[in-house]
Amino acid sequence: MTRAFPEDFLFGVATAAYQIEGAAFEDGRTASIWDAFARVPGAVLNADNGDVACDHYHRYPQDVALMKDLGLQVYRFSTSWSRVRPDGGPVNPAGIDFYSRLVDELLEADIMPWLTLHHWDMPQALEEKGGWTSRDTVDRFVEYALSVHDALGDRVQHWTTLNEPWCSSFLSYTAGAHAPGRYGVGDGMLAAHHLLLSHGRTVQALRERAPELSQGITLNLTVADAADPADPADVDAARRIDGQFNRWFLDPIFRGSYPADIVEDFRAVDPDAVARWEDAVQPGDLEAISTPLDALGVNYYHGEMLSGHPQGTGGTPHDGGDLARPVGNPFPSHEGIHWVERGLPRTGMDWEVQPEGLTRLLVRVAEEYAPGVALYVTENGAAYDDAVGEDGVVHDADRLAFLQAHLGASLDAIEQGVDLHGYFYWSLMDNYEWSWGYEKRFGIVRVDYDTLERTVKDSGAEYARIIAARAL
Ligand code: BGC
Ligand code: BGC
Repeated sequence: MTRAFPEDFLFGVATAAYQIEGAAFEDGRTASIWDAFARVPGAVLNADNGDVACDHYHRYPQDVALMKDLGLQVYRFSTSWSRVRPDGGPVNPAGIDFYSRLVDELLEADIMPWLTLHHWDMPQALEEKGGWTSRDTVDRFVEYALSVHDALGDRVQHWTTLNEPWCSSFLSYTAGAHAPGRYGVGDGMLAAHHLLLSHGRTVQALRERAPELSQGITLNLTVADAADPADPADVDAARRIDGQFNRWFLDPIFRGSYPADIVEDFRAVDPDAVARWEDAVQPGDLEAISTPLDALGVNYYHGEMLSGHPQGTGGTPHDGGDLARPVGNPFPSHEGIHWVERGLPRTGMDWEVQPEGLTRLLVRVAEEYAPGVALYVTENGAAYDDAVGEDGVVHDADRLAFLQAHLGASLDAIEQGVDLHGYFYWSLMDNYEWSWGYEKRFGIVRVDYDTLERTVKDSGAEYARIIAARAL
């Protein structure tokens, strides 16, 4: 049976500046927190860094041509703060010019540019002044956002403030797994608040200037199932994960308040951290954070099953890497939470493959949080141990099946009434997978890191067929 997508449904792919651009110190760009973190011994697998990455900075015309060949309608990319405003200082014309050329190239190829302002790579000089734990960073971010808009506002219609603030706060400032590698409960809470405030202030500033833009944020959301829905300890474990991962961001953005139960969970672990955070949340902040949005981007990779009883299977899917440097728990109130092995297939990240979780997640978000807001799956994808066949092509049947299944799950959500407008696969090509370095490959296009040659994988060819047919 063929299943058609709605006429206005957009098919795309996503990438992020630090993960693909390379040219890390060219044309005036200075260090971001990821350039610095990649150099901390043990922080990134194989000590990989983004100095060269996919060399997209120099090869973007070829990459845009490749996207055109695949029939992609949308390209979601991020701008590098350190390129546009090195060290968080004045605008660097050569840096912003790169994005201007990229946008022109995309428009010429009939591909819609979808711009994300923050995909984790803040200038290292700002981190040295406190980074996201400092309220000053919010003003620096709004300045940066406005300067990107000055240059590209005439050609870019879709604006995303932040990518996955959970990662750039709790995973980065509490668990130490991502740059800048800090380890405090209070630091994570402050970072999350200042990130959200930057989001809200930017939406307000851009809306005042250009009400016609479509503005949104991208969150990484999970589906936290209780192992036994009749067991109060399991239900509580699921509540805590859902609360800190999903509701900590959805509630302030769509309801103008932080979830009270999670605040109390934090207080039980670290009352001083909560006191610092309460001082940091100032009058007017939540009004700014809850400025109405045009779009919400949902990044979905995996679900999880939680129990309040020891299971002996251990491992959280949220640790960000297999590292020499210690990784703390990103969930300060995680005590007594156990992740349950429920026998689902797993990707090369050890994440469960659970497409129906995407359907449930979209239905829930649409109903509980964002009625009237256009939803997009702004990331979904899988890493696998790819092997290059004798014909030089990666025959990635597992990734191809993952893609089909999640596109099917997206259609299921639409059939259940969700206002879903697009799906962007993560990622266009293999790239720098943060603390996993180049070891994990998510691309529908293979990158040979010796020659930097790109080769479409079977999953990429299949995506092109689906897009051409606009059906599964
Ligand atoms: C996932 C997290 C993971 C992180 C870093 C996120 O998209 O939702 O579970 O820890 O990426 O890889
Ligand atoms: C991020 C990407 C990352 C992907 C896979 C998301 O957490 O937005 O940058 O590569 O998931 O981990």
